[in-house]
Amino acid sequence: MKHLLKLQDLSREEICSILNMADQLKYEKKHGIEHKRLAGKSLGMIFQKSSTRTRVSFEVGMYDLGGQALFLSSNDLQIGRGEPVEDTARVLSRYLDGIMIRTYKQEEVEKLAEYGSIPIINGLTDYCHPCQVLADLMTIREYKGAIQGNKLTYIGDGNNMANSLIVGGIKMGMKVSIACPKGYEPDSEIMKWAAENGEFECTEDILAAAKDADVLYTDVWASMGQEAEAAERKKIFVNYQINDEVMAVAKKGAMVQHCLPAHRGEEITAKVFEEHAAEIFDEAENRLHVQKAVLVKCMG
Ligand code: CP
Ligand code: NVA
Repeated sequence: MKHLLKLQDLSREEICSILNMADQLKYEKKHGIEHKRLAGKSLGMIFQKSSTRTRVSFEVGMYDLGGQALFLSSNDLQIGRGEPVEDTARVLSRYLDGIMIRTYKQEEVEKLAEYGSIPIINGLTDYCHPCQVLADLMTIREYKGAIQGNKLTYIGDGNNMANSLIVGGIKMGMKVSIACPKGYEPDSEIMKWAAENGEFECTEDILAAAKDADVLYTDVWASMGQEAEAAERKKIFVNYQINDEVMAVAKKGAMVQHCLPAHRGEEITAKVFEEHAAEIFDEAENRLHVQKAVLVKCMG
């Protein structure tokens, strides 16, 4: 595996192989077994948006693997002053062994991979969030024993999370159901692909989407970069919430996932969030293990 730009680029076998390695690395970490598989290597982490989980898990992950991580805020890089990504890619390729980037446009990530000569890992764009969904798949497998055959319901904005969940879910054999308001659907090409390659539906009907779900997922109503639309979105998404009514139609024992940060009282009630906090924070923890697996696969 050269890069992780989007989940579309990975086969089911490659996803399974990442998840297996993540399980192994989690085991080694929990048992204090040294696993310096990237000794002496350097990862640059370019951030054009805020982050808690992605930044800390990649940074600690590189340390665990025997390498180092450089936090490169776009405010400090020349990229923030207009240096082209094509040039940044070629320069950083001379110093680093890999780059993780969080930015707005997916094209920027793809361009970094095209012009650079080192592995590029997508740490979130407006289009997708592959690292998060790999952690989600790992967590679902931990809780359910298997991924295939489960029904995954996503309630909320058809954003980067929805796009990656559809691709990851369908590739791994889950039924994927999306509930979102009209006009806020996930990427149309992704939905077309999903319908042709698995069991997929997108509806405005939240309870229909949540019916018999094994996994319920939600994310913020306004993503990073959409702050100006936040007030309007609060009105549009008001009913798109995981609450007791939604949980009641899901399968008994259904798990709840949230990529975080969460807005209690918006996309999820405080009650449901706290009742499922164990699963949600295991999911957050698994970012560390799964990303270490991605780093080893790409940079090892
Ligand atoms: N879920 C996630 O990517 O969190 P951060 O924005 O804190 O990195
Ligand atoms: N959809 C959210 C995900 C944050 C991890 C955002 O892009 O802000």
